[in-house]
Amino acid sequence: MTDQIILGVKKEEDPSEDRVSIVPRDLKSLSSLGLKIVVEKDAGIKAGYSNENYETSGASIVDSLPNNTSIVTSLNAFYDHSSNHIENSIIISLTDIRTNSEIKKICENKKLSLFAMEFVPRIARAQKLDALSSQASIAGYRAGLIVATSLKKYLPLMMTAAGTIPPSSILVLGAGVAGLQAIATTKRLGADVTGYDIRLAAGEQIESLGAKFISDEVPPDSETSGGYAKEQSKDNQKNQLEFLKEYILKSDAVITTAAIPGRKAPILIEKSTVEEMKQGSVIVDLAAATGGNCESTKLGEEVEIKGTKVIGPKNLSSDMAFDASIVYSKNLLGLLEIIIQENKINLNFDDEIVDTMMVYQDGKSRIEE
Ligand code: NAI
Repeated sequence: MTDQIILGVKKEEDPSEDRVSIVPRDLKSLSSLGLKIVVEKDAGIKAGYSNENYETSGASIVDSLPNNTSIVTSLNAFYDHSSNHIENSIIISLTDIRTNSEIKKICENKKLSLFAMEFVPRIARAQKLDALSSQASIAGYRAGLIVATSLKKYLPLMMTAAGTIPPSSILVLGAGVAGLQAIATTKRLGADVTGYDIRLAAGEQIESLGAKFISDEVPPDSETSGGYAKEQSKDNQKNQLEFLKEYILKSDAVITTAAIPGRKAPILIEKSTVEEMKQGSVIVDLAAATGGNCESTKLGEEVEIKGTKVIGPKNLSSDMAFDASIVYSKNLLGLLEIIIQENKINLNFDDEIVDTMMVYQDGKSRIEE
């Protein structure tokens, strides 16, 4: 009989991280793949999953993962660079490997294999393991709620005996997964919502949610073949800032989500524009972690500039850790169903998903430097 593959669920090291990588309700599916699950004590507590929940679903609770763990799952496995990784194991986690050279050193030293969840290919078959989308959608929803509670105004039109109050006007810059969810959420709450994106294809999606779409003269090569936005030339950036300023100044709140994979986020709101915004306006900058779409954003902080609040959330999906963990866990299950076959780890590099997402194999890089 072959030994059972051990999958270990790491307790997150980042004190501000509330999510857990695998939730109890997926343990049955993981066991049916032939995996034995061990969970670090209290790994799920902050997300709302107790040690007992895991035990009754078939996992063993351990103080630290045993040395014969083959696969380790996490949200951010390389948060602590001094962490004691298990040699020759496979790590499945979100990472910042594009910008963090320490991770490469750790993978080499410990001969790790690494599936980077952010490298998911944007193809239909990979949708169920798309952790970028599952977490961005939550962040977009939360951003809508932050706007709703930070504005000193109603979002919907209110007709009361004491008079009529117009709806708040919300501008959403960047209409990918997070932006579209922010549009849907603020629209549902009754706001007057406008969306903008450099990709013209986003226009139809914005309008299908009942919001208005604004567009400037977008250069024809603003999109990659994979459907991502490209970094804009200096001239285009200048035109874009001028075009957006008028709409920003008319808005009560702006939610920004514009991102270019692997690059610093584009600046869409200058500090001088923030200074001219209406008193009591709010900016929620979802691109804060990659530098911010607003020049005044400070990661993890709320700053006030001439009566406008600029909020730069660090990890909005973690604020909704119970559900964020459910969808992340499903994303990992989707990947594990591809790489575990007949109770064995089977890495088929002819499969685009495996080929793209496995960025280190046995301590050797598989990505172009
Ligand atoms: P993202 O997080 O990389 O960027 C967010 C948004 O910012 C994008 O819509 C992008 O066009 C926009 N943006 C970038 N620079 C901008 C600028 N200077 N001005 C205004 N907007 C700017 O994007 P996300 O949410 O990851 O989605 C990117 C693409 O991938 C979209 O086309 C989306 O539909 C597609 N997608 C495909 C999936 C699949 O087929 N499985 C799954 C998820 C997304």
